[in-house]
Amino acid sequence: MIKTSLKTHWEDVYSTRGETSMSWYQAEPRLSLELIRDLAPTLGARIIDVGGGASVLVDRLLDLSFTRIAVLDIAETALARARSRLGNRAERVEWIAADVTEIEDVGIFDVWHDRAVFHFLTEESDRRRYVALARRTLPAGGLLMIACFADDGPRRCSDLDIRRYGAESMGAELGAEFALVRQARETHATPWNTSQAFFYGVFQRQ
Ligand SMILES: C[S@@+](CC[C@H](N)C(=O)[O-])C[C@H]1O[C@@H](n2cnc3c(N)ncnc32)[C@H](O)[C@@H]1O
Repeated sequence: MIKTSLKTHWEDVYSTRGETSMSWYQAEPRLSLELIRDLAPTLGARIIDVGGGASVLVDRLLDLSFTRIAVLDIAETALARARSRLGNRAERVEWIAADVTEIEDVGIFDVWHDRAVFHFLTEESDRRRYVALARRTLPAGGLLMIACFADDGPRRCSDLDIRRYGAESMGAELGAEFALVRQARETHATPWNTSQAFFYGVFQRQ
């Protein structure tokens, strides 16, 4: 899919459907929060949710002790939804409308969270640009938390082809500058009660 139509795809998804009719919808991002609480240096740390969409993860992050919180997404409609839900609290968040494979710089963050975005990158060159940005964004010791469909998960998401991952294949994509520190599996129940197997990996920037 070419880039302009990719943005159109995601803007259409968010402008024509309610959140609870999207397969990835979570009322509570339980496992992400568990990993963040367990592993991230929440006191004074900076966190970015890459491809955060309209997820309520940002609402929960605002209740933790992060000093800097950003949400990046290609779909402005998704960011607008999250902002309006948060009301005044949205002012404490940096909202970045951008394609993660095209933006050159997002600043420096201690934690990079991505649930169900990297798996859409079917082009090798996009994956290389994504990893290069993560490398520039995270200082040594920083954490990259990434959730994708697992090796036995679905082959498509939001009508798009995806790539499935486990610890080894994700480690190979990220390269030697990221070391696996935790992995987990989640069986996500879609709003219509089908199951999707997710792999979660937490990698530390070397
Ligand atoms: C499956 S949804 C997951 C949303 C959110 N992370 C969650 O768990 O609810 C994928 C999200 O990634 C965004 N996205 C897809 N490709 C992107 C890209 N190249 N750059 C930035 N965001 C992208 C979409 O707009 C969408 O919000």
